[in-house]
Amino acid sequence: MKKFVILFTACLLSLTCSSQQQKQSSVIKTPVPERPAGQTDVLDLRTAPLPTVRVAFIGLGMRGPGAVQRMTYIPGVEIVALCDVEQKNTEKVNEMLEKRGFPKAQEFYGDTAIWRKVTALPNVDLIYIATDWKHHAVMGVQAMKDGKHVAIEVPSAMNMDEIWDLINTSEQTRKHCMQLENCVYDFFELTTLNMVQQGLLGDVIHGEGAYIHGLQPYWEEYWNDWRMDFNKEHRGDVYPTHGLGPVCQAMNIHRGDKLNYLVSMDTKAIGNPAFLKEKRGEEVKDFRNGDHTCTMISTENGKSILIEHNVTSPRPYNRMYQLTGTKGFANKYPSEGYALGSEALDPSLTANHENLTAHSFVSDEIRKALMEKYKHPIAKDIEDLAKKVGGHGGMDFIMDYRLIYCLQRGLPLDMDVYDLAEWCSLIPLTELSLDNSSAPVEIPDFTRGAWNKLNGLKFAQ
Ligand SMILES: NC(=O)c1ccc[n+]([C@@H]2O[C@H](COP(=O)([O-])OP(=O)(O)OC[C@H]3O[C@@H](n4cnc5c(N)ncnc54)[C@H](O)[C@@H]3O)[C@@H](O)[C@H]2O)c1
Repeated sequence: MKKFVILFTACLLSLTCSSQQQKQSSVIKTPVPERPAGQTDVLDLRTAPLPTVRVAFIGLGMRGPGAVQRMTYIPGVEIVALCDVEQKNTEKVNEMLEKRGFPKAQEFYGDTAIWRKVTALPNVDLIYIATDWKHHAVMGVQAMKDGKHVAIEVPSAMNMDEIWDLINTSEQTRKHCMQLENCVYDFFELTTLNMVQQGLLGDVIHGEGAYIHGLQPYWEEYWNDWRMDFNKEHRGDVYPTHGLGPVCQAMNIHRGDKLNYLVSMDTKAIGNPAFLKEKRGEEVKDFRNGDHTCTMISTENGKSILIEHNVTSPRPYNRMYQLTGTKGFANKYPSEGYALGSEALDPSLTANHENLTAHSFVSDEIRKALMEKYKHPIAKDIEDLAKKVGGHGGMDFIMDYRLIYCLQRGLPLDMDVYDLAEWCSLIPLTELSLDNSSAPVEIPDFTRGAWNKLNGLKFAQ
């Protein structure tokens, strides 16, 4: 990977195994820029309350228009500007606004640089970005420099330079930089997070997450073929945030624990090159992204995480989402379930090798009761409206609602720029591991020393 200057290609860590024997392992490290003097972290960042949040949207392809529509259901939001390369996209969204009884927003279109006029607008508080991946970070950085908070679709940054730029700009400008990771707001994830925080699963020692989604119906729809191009050019987990986000929240990453290092393995690339040959007659010999990529992460507190990526195999959609705790287990796909360890203590249990059901899932009835009892407070408040407005069943609406709720009250956002950094860092770091025979790669402490400052994840109320 040309972009990386590897500080120590082979940083030898000596681990004493016994008095006679030494074991050595090499960890690849990437540079951590020094925090400029006078600049401080943005953990728990509070900003001036904005009773009315004036929003400008950039990127109105398949994803963007739904976000504009969802915002029309949130009181105290003004939709000020709409921007896309294509005029037809801004027009269509303005038609929707009119139909919903809202004033038309100012339209910006025509070329890929027109967005600079949008981030510079004086009457905007929040820039909401849903463009292709390569435009995310550059727009986010400029928006903060222009004095705006910024919310950026997933993944918000594609390499380490972009990640550090977003962190430094957020720290310098004291503006929020939130990644629009919707999957942390799905109902099962929110409920399970609440269970974890109440101790029902004990100590969560292992988590799994994934993005397994056959994208064949979408490949031809992306603007300028940006997504296929990125997959052509990059090995590794190029879309890790849906899988990693909810697991990191359950493990309090940079709020008491931190991601230490990863190792990644992939398969050869078959599905996407075959798709290109069949649909476009295009022969790509060196397609970089393997069909299936697995990444393992180790944390400071001795926990492990498995993250997978596959956008080509004929498999049902799956974000995995499994948490293994010392007292219980949560599993989302293919059906939601919980197993609680209490049965193991039942004195009537005897050693019987035919009985493999000692730790079965709780019954449907108990699961429903548990999900009601542990429903997350933020879901309780807006569940009905979220389900009505929709967006992946409601989670997209909860995400937008929470973003606006916190901005209106000047509260810290649920996800900060360090979450963005940790979750996006898998993109460059898995590529680095794969290009070095699955070598371990350090995941930097993006807080630069403050990962233990906050005590657990709290959604501000
Ligand atoms: N969170 C989720 O569940 C979810 C779901 C789908 C997509 N996404 C993310 O949303 C983003 C957009 O995906 P999509 O499916 O809508 O892609 P898309 O190709 O349909 O839309 C991208 C839009 O961005 C516009 N654009 C590109 N460069 C621009 C520029 N310089 N200035 C203004 N507009 C520009 C294009 O004209 C296009 O309309 C991606 O980051 C994707 O990963 C997230």
